[in-house]
Amino acid sequence: MDKIIIEGGQRLEGEVTISGAKNAALPIMASTLLADGTSALENIPDLLDIRTIANLLRRLGAEVDLSAGRAEINSNSVENLVAPYELVKTMRASVLVLGPLLTRFGKAQVSLPGGCAIGARPINLHLKGLTAMGAEINLEHGYVQAEAPLGLQGADIFFDLPTVTGTENLLMAAVLANGTTILRNAAREPEVADLANALTAMGAKIEGIGTDVLTIEGVKSLKAISYGVMSDRIEAATFMAAAGITGGRITIKQAPVSALTAVENKLKQTGLKFDHPGQDTIVVTGPSRINSVDIKTEPYPGFPTDMQAQFMAMMCFASGLSVITETIFDNRFIHVSELERMGADIRLSGNTAIVEGVPALLGAPVMATDLRASASLVLAGLAAKGQTEVSRVYHIDRGYERIEEKLSGLGARIRRIKA
Ligand code: EPU
Repeated sequence: MDKIIIEGGQRLEGEVTISGAKNAALPIMASTLLADGTSALENIPDLLDIRTIANLLRRLGAEVDLSAGRAEINSNSVENLVAPYELVKTMRASVLVLGPLLTRFGKAQVSLPGGCAIGARPINLHLKGLTAMGAEINLEHGYVQAEAPLGLQGADIFFDLPTVTGTENLLMAAVLANGTTILRNAAREPEVADLANALTAMGAKIEGIGTDVLTIEGVKSLKAISYGVMSDRIEAATFMAAAGITGGRITIKQAPVSALTAVENKLKQTGLKFDHPGQDTIVVTGPSRINSVDIKTEPYPGFPTDMQAQFMAMMCFASGLSVITETIFDNRFIHVSELERMGADIRLSGNTAIVEGVPALLGAPVMATDLRASASLVLAGLAAKGQTEVSRVYHIDRGYERIEEKLSGLGARIRRIKA
């Protein structure tokens, strides 16, 4: 397994270009199962999770061509309607094929994702919504067996809580259903809106994009698209934190500026300075010492859970006490014990972490446990004294494109050791 070695203490300076958003690219790639013909998707990041969904689509029978920043997908020859355990267990987002397969082909078998490093993460709300649309769903041998031989029917669905992939699955199911579907308390994440825009380009009829009520009028068929996926707001936010934690100055290009308001607002309170010289360019300057600030993760437009670990890494160096409350996932603090190995002072109580900033962390061997936890360890390593060795970096490769190349371009002393 590859490792990343970081010599901490370099101030990061320069320009970085943000890649396409993983969490928008995944559902949009799955949505090509709904369309007739070959879709051409641009701004597709080169990531492990993208290769996994490409392999899953191929397994279903689709033709998928991945090349520099681009995916061409034709689903006309799909005939295998099974998403197998060995793929789903490596990436929960595989469950995104359930809605499209069921609505277009009347049948789907998708392995239940099982446990996860950050929490229980059930898919009950996806299944409840599909059942309300007339699907017959059984759980057998670890698989969701779903059938709708006469097609799905429009329904009025209220999500008990806003679920991102749940909203995406139901949205994709509804675009080819008979009649009108209303999704209430839908997730408002920009990635959901990006999917809805891609579906609209295919010919879907969706109202309320970007709000928590989506009204979808089913159509008979959808056509292939050419579509550019939005930029990754969490990658951009992670580079903002890199500027903050190293007291550096980073120009972030191709940033999805409007999707970053909550993060920018909190980072400003920590002492970071922001300039917006162009529509999708942000210049971030870190302070000489970070201020402690409290955060609470919330569904969009609140502070994203996918930035909680990276924000905590910053707070480890801040001048005071920070209270970090995680409200989305029940176990998303695994990075805490790794940060403590580097000298961080963190107390955990339920879903709250109290971080007392210290003047310095010391580099140490640490282990990545999930994607965003890994990013927090890399950030801590950039600012720590001495060498940090992050193992199990396949986690970071799931969601950050060429991370060590981008960071070394900014002056970080970082390298990968291939296993
Ligand atoms: N939930 C249920 N039942 C459901 C669905 C969700 O109880 O049927 C709960 C979850 O257990 C969680 C909460 O609802 O407590 C929110 O989960 P959500 O369904 O919104 O998460 P997700 O769709 O599984 C996506 C992202 C995650 C991101 C979350 C929250 C993708 C592929 N994944 O997951 O991204 O953390 O939304 O914003 O879009 C990451 O990129 O590192 C990552 C984990």
